[in-house]
Amino acid sequence: MPTTAILGLQWGDEGKGKLVDQLCARHDLCVRFQGGGNAGHTVYPEGRKVVLHHLPTGVLHRHCLNILGPGMVVDPFKLIAEIDEVQALGYSCEKRLVISDRLAITTPVHTALDAAREGDEGKIGTTKRGIGPTYADNYDRIALRACDLLDKSALKEALARNLKVRGPQLGKAAPNLDSLLGPLLDAGKRLKPYIQDSALVLKEALDEDKRVLFEGAQGALLDVSYGTYPFVTSSHTMASGIPAGAGLWVKLDRVIGVTKAYCTRVGEGPFPTELPKAEGDRLREKGGEYGATTGRPRRVGWVDLFALRYVCRLSGVTELAVTKLDVLSGLGSLKAGVGYKGHKEAGLPAEISRFAALKPEYRTLEGWNEALGAARGGSDLPAAARAYLRFMEEFVGVKIGIISVGPEREAAFEVKGAPQG
Ligand code: IMP
Repeated sequence: MPTTAILGLQWGDEGKGKLVDQLCARHDLCVRFQGGGNAGHTVYPEGRKVVLHHLPTGVLHRHCLNILGPGMVVDPFKLIAEIDEVQALGYSCEKRLVISDRLAITTPVHTALDAAREGDEGKIGTTKRGIGPTYADNYDRIALRACDLLDKSALKEALARNLKVRGPQLGKAAPNLDSLLGPLLDAGKRLKPYIQDSALVLKEALDEDKRVLFEGAQGALLDVSYGTYPFVTSSHTMASGIPAGAGLWVKLDRVIGVTKAYCTRVGEGPFPTELPKAEGDRLREKGGEYGATTGRPRRVGWVDLFALRYVCRLSGVTELAVTKLDVLSGLGSLKAGVGYKGHKEAGLPAEISRFAALKPEYRTLEGWNEALGAARGGSDLPAAARAYLRFMEEFVGVKIGIISVGPEREAAFEVKGAPQG
């Protein structure tokens, strides 16, 4: 049975939520393997808007079993609120949700540390959900893990270990152990039915030939190793993050890389193909480019095919999904980044100073005026839109398998073979 991964190829917000939602209909399990409450996957089940942060999108499909793998970081209070929200909408999590007993827990210590760091000059523009400090604590072996929430003395010990290091960094703002202990124990009681060895559950499902979907969060250019470091998130957002983040070796049959037909970024950090303000404002309004988690306006620019080609190679992407193609209607001619002046290497520079100095080279392509929202197949698209897509897939060297032209479920359709010009 096929295993599928769906991964963002840019700086997140590529529109993965809706595609995952569609794919869940044909999968038995939906697995998150990295990130946490920083993600914001917007879906419209039965016409209602739901933004999922921790929960895999499969919770909105009653046949799906959902796993939060050990590579995630979880704020238990926010997770409980999310569970309550989806259950109130009629999507029971009972026997459909598995939380890895090994995943690291975000506490108010981590959110406070994140916020304090963001007040500094060297801010990253994080979502302030405590993601970086939680991952840092996990690797520094001073984290609380989900299993600790189930045992008072283990929790006390883990909190003491954590506060010994982190408390002084927060100074007067540091919470005391007792103020954290009670609420976290209560959260543990609520989450107990879900906390278990998730890798074993996944292994059994794979052995039984169940269809498994790995749901990526953020995007490749935010990957902690291969993104625009230090302006990245703190997890492995590329395919390489799946085995460790899910807890076992897994062979992927289909790796869907999602890219917008243009590009956006929230937070700080270089963005070579970013548009100047006036043009950027126009595209932002047309595309409704505001963050799902923080509401921040997104920076917008042209698609960067050079960067796409690089991350597709690293993640072994087998097909592209191109979203928000409809937003490009009526813009006149379009541009696509195909390299950078004087940059002869096949990859992106590791050093942020070199990355920030990249000056893009563009290919100008013919635009189109037709609205695309009603298209339901490649042949419904105007010739210029098909030529734009064909240029993308030829440059990147990966076929386009899915095109999306609007927020509705039906507005994303699969294409058989290359889009015909
Ligand atoms: P953090 O993940 O909150 O630590 O934020 C680090 C960087 O990743 C910041 O630039 C955030 O704006 C960005 N980021 C984190 N999660 C998302 C997401 O889901 N979509 C887009 N950007 C994100």
